[in-house]
Amino acid sequence: VRDRCVRVTAGDARASYDVVIAPGALARLGELAAATARASRYAVIADATVASLYGNTACEALARVGPAEQFTFRQGEPSKTRETWARLSDAMLERGLGRDACVVALGGGVTGDLAGFVAATYMRGLPWIQVPTSLLAMIDASIGGKTGVDVPAGKNLVGAFLQPRAVAVDTDLLATLPPDEFRNGLAEAVKHGAICDASYFAWIEENAAGILGGDAALLPELVQRSIEIKAGVVSADPHEHGQRASLNFGHTVAHAIERATAFGIPHGQAVAVGMVAEAAIGEAAGITKAGTAARLTHALRALGLPAHIPPHLDAETLLSAASGDKKARGSRLRWALISQIGQAARSEGGEWTVEISEQTVHSVLQSGPGSA
Ligand SMILES: NC(=O)c1ccc[n+]([C@@H]2O[C@H](COP(=O)([O-])OP(=O)(O)OC[C@H]3O[C@@H](n4cnc5c(N)ncnc54)[C@H](O)[C@@H]3O)[C@@H](O)[C@H]2O)c1
Ligand SMILES: [Zn+2]
Repeated sequence: VRDRCVRVTAGDARASYDVVIAPGALARLGELAAATARASRYAVIADATVASLYGNTACEALARVGPAEQFTFRQGEPSKTRETWARLSDAMLERGLGRDACVVALGGGVTGDLAGFVAATYMRGLPWIQVPTSLLAMIDASIGGKTGVDVPAGKNLVGAFLQPRAVAVDTDLLATLPPDEFRNGLAEAVKHGAICDASYFAWIEENAAGILGGDAALLPELVQRSIEIKAGVVSADPHEHGQRASLNFGHTVAHAIERATAFGIPHGQAVAVGMVAEAAIGEAAGITKAGTAARLTHALRALGLPAHIPPHLDAETLLSAASGDKKARGSRLRWALISQIGQAARSEGGEWTVEISEQTVHSVLQSGPGSA
């Protein structure tokens, strides 16, 4: 069987790269590195959990091209900081890695963002390869070249754009991913279908049970179709002026939920609930086809994801949490909605976000979208 491969074009042709999707791709990482990022040394950056599972396999695969050594940090979002970035960079300097080295980000989205930022800044920039190990990292975080860290003022506020030389997606690695993390990633797959591809959405609906059960025959297909959608959007809008906004479907409400609960609700769950709420908002505003929120609710529940806003979060709380961004920009809240399953909504002027009256948003959030 030939490997599944998706080409990502980001801005100019030099920044184009391949995402290779194949069970067992990790053991063949050396080939990919030889073809796309030959280096005298490889710095494999991974969190402690992923390092203990896959660090040695990665280093052995790379050893055929050049010596590889591991740099690890404690797993989890609290590690995505300037402090960890500094510690990793210092450790690499101490071991004498030079400009002819290459960074390999082995892990979830936290590792990708952190290791990518190390790569972007180490000696003014090293090439890097991404080996995403969580579903979220495979279908979302490893596509688009965004790297960075969280700071006290907010998440992802310090960072850089740096496209990798290649991305190796080994779907076998999902076998060890905790089920909650797997479901969180599925929320973004549902989003991809909802904003771009009705037939992909229907495929997810039909295969929900198998996908949720981790059916190894379905995962490469799911990962490939999601990557194609995210890569397509990113390629069409490398500088985030337009279409990329459609990837924020569900995320305005999700961010409000995350903020109002001090990130007590995982991102994927917040996005699931957010998509249902935003579909209901769109329906109330006459932008989204009637019945869309109900269809999303059904699909998300089949994937083990929530569709209700937790009852203790009332409309007031969510609206003030959502307007945190709004005040900073001095403009009214704009929404990335869908017109129907498979299609992002466009404003009359062709923009990828639409303005919705606060009254409409308030009344929908108050009535508990998804409860129908
Ligand atoms: N750069 C981007 O465009 C982009 C896009 C979306 C999200 N993100 C970022 O991604 C991060 C979230 O990513 P995440 O959900 O992957 O978090 P994560 O990297 O913390 O991974 C989640 C957990 O799963 C574990 N894990 C990962 N792969 C595993 C495997 N194969 N087997 C066993 N355990 C495994 C990790 O150790 C961790 O504990 C956030 O920081 C977010 O800001 C970035
Ligand atoms: Zn998201």
